Amino acid sequence: MKKQMVTDKQPTDFSITQFKEISTWVTSVEDLDQLLELIIETATRMMRAKASSLLLVDQKTKRLYFKVATGDKKDDVKKFEIELGQGIAGHVAVTGEPLLIPDVSKDPRWYKEISESIGFSTKSIVCVPMKIDGEIIGVVEIIDKTDGSAIKDTDIKLLAVFAELAALAIKSARKIARVKKENKSLKEALGSQHQIIGDCIALRKVITDAFKVANSKTNTLIVGESGTGKELLARLIHRAGNRRDEPLVILNCAAIPESLLEDELFGHEKGAFTGALDRKIGKFELADKGTIFLDEIGEMSLSMQAKFLRVLQEEVFHRIGGNIPIHVDVRVIAATNKDIAKEVAEGRFREDLYYRLNVVQIRMPSLRERKEDIPLLAEYFLDKFKKEKGLSRLPISPKALEKMMQYHWPGNVRELKNALERAVVLGNGREILPEDLPIFNSNPNPPGFEVGLTLQDAINGFKKEFIKLNLRYTGGNRSKAARIMGIQRTYLSSLISKYQIQEV
Ligand SMILES: Nc1ncnc2c1ncn2[C@@H]1O[C@H](COP(=O)(O)OP(=O)(O)O)[C@@H](O)[C@H]1O
Ligand SMILES: [Mg+2]
Repeated sequence: MKKQMVTDKQPTDFSITQFKEISTWVTSVEDLDQLLELIIETATRMMRAKASSLLLVDQKTKRLYFKVATGDKKDDVKKFEIELGQGIAGHVAVTGEPLLIPDVSKDPRWYKEISESIGFSTKSIVCVPMKIDGEIIGVVEIIDKTDGSAIKDTDIKLLAVFAELAALAIKSARKIARVKKENKSLKEALGSQHQIIGDCIALRKVITDAFKVANSKTNTLIVGESGTGKELLARLIHRAGNRRDEPLVILNCAAIPESLLEDELFGHEKGAFTGALDRKIGKFELADKGTIFLDEIGEMSLSMQAKFLRVLQEEVFHRIGGNIPIHVDVRVIAATNKDIAKEVAEGRFREDLYYRLNVVQIRMPSLRERKEDIPLLAEYFLDKFKKEKGLSRLPISPKALEKMMQYHWPGNVRELKNALERAVVLGNGREILPEDLPIFNSNPNPPGFEVGLTLQDAINGFKKEFIKLNLRYTGGNRSKAARIMGIQRTYLSSLISKYQIQEV
C-alpha cells in the first residue's frame, strides 16, 4: 500500500484525486489495519488535529475498543475500552449522531478518566459514527486542533467522509473474508465429498495413472463395474489437471432418451423446433475449456456416436437449428461398465469412436478385487453417516466386519456405502451388527422357510425371529417393539416367554 502518500504536505495540497485514490484502495483492501490507519492519519493531517482515533464496537462484549489511534499518547490510549453509552464516543456509538463538543469540561458526557490517566489534555472533540448498512460499527473522533483554533462544523462533515471511507473499507474486508471462507469450506466440502478411499495396489495404480493423464487433454476411457468409482475418478482427473478452475460437466448417456441426447449435448437455437422457445446451450459448449464426463457411453446410439465422433474430430459443432460453427476446447472423459471391446466386436459401438475415446484406458477394480480396502471404506462411510446422524461412537462389530469381508459385493463401493447407511439408520445405535447388514445373510430365506416343517412350526419360527429383530431394533424396549409390530405389550411379553426369547 502506498502509505508514503501521506507526506508532510500542507493539508490544502490534498487534492480530490488523492481522495479518490483512497477510495479505490478501500474496495480492494488487502491489509485492513494498514488501510484504516492510513485513513485516520490522513483525516488527522487534513484537519490538523492533535490526536484522533477509530473505535470499533465489539459485538460480543458491547464495548468500544481502539482500533487506530494517533497523537502523542496513541499507545497508551489503546489500552482502554469504553462501555457503549459511556463518554462522548460511547454516546455517539449508541445514538448514531455526530457530536461536536467545543469544551469537554462543560459536558457531563465527557469521560475524563482516560485523558487524565494518560496525561493528555483535551479541550474539544468531534466524534462521528461509522455505519455499515445502517448498523453502527464504531466511531471516529478527533481531539483539538494543533494550532489551538476551534473545531468547526465543516470538520464534522469532513470527518464524516473519512468515517464513511473507513466503514466501507471494513465492509469490503469483511466481504472478502466471508467469500474466502465460503470458498474454502466449499472446496473442502467438495474435496471430501469426492475423496477416493483405498490403499490397495490396484487403486494406487489407478490414481497414479489419473494424475499422469490429468494435465494433458488426452481422451480417457474409464472402465469398470457399476459402483466402482468411475465418476469419482473422472472428478479427480479434472481436479488434478490444469483445467480444474474450468467447468466439469457430467452427462449420463443412459439417463437421457435417445431423442434428447443431441439436444443435451449440443443445445439448440431459438425456434430450432416446435417448443424451442429460447436458445439452449448444450453440455458440450458449457464444458468449453474444461472437461466433459460422458458416463455410460456404451448406451449411446450408433447414430449419435457418428455425430459425436465428427465433433471430436473437428472440434466444431452446431447448435441444433443453428448455422454458426461453434468451436470448443473440451477434454473428454468417458466411462462405461460394459465390455466395450465386445460391444465394438459385435457392432454396437463404432470402432473409430472407441479408438478416439480410448487413448488412455483406466480400469477401476471391483470391490471383490480389493477386499483389503473394505475396512477402510466401511470406516469412512460409517464416519460420514455417523456425523450426519449426530452419533459419536458406533463401532463395527468384528462379526459384521467378517461378513463384509466374505461378501462378494456385486454393487461394489456403492453397495457398501448404502449398506452402511442403512445399518446406521436401522441398527441399535451402539454397534453395527451382522443383522444390520441383511444383504449378507448366507441364507436369504426367512427363518422357518424350509421343506419338512409343518406350517405351524414355520410360522412359529418366523414369529420368534421377527420378535427378536424388533427387540433388537428397539434395544430391548418391549413397549416400543410392541407398538411397531402393532400388538399389545402384554401380548408381546407372553410371546417372549412362549418362544423363550432371552437375549436379543
Ligand atoms: N474409492 C472410493 N472411495 C470413496 N467413495 C467411493 C469410492 N468408490 C466409489 N465411491 C462412492 O460410491 C458411489 C458410486 O461411485 P461412482 O463413482 O458413481 O461409481 P460408478 O460411476 O463407477 O458407478 C459414490 O457415492 C462414490 O462416492
Ligand atoms: Mg456412475
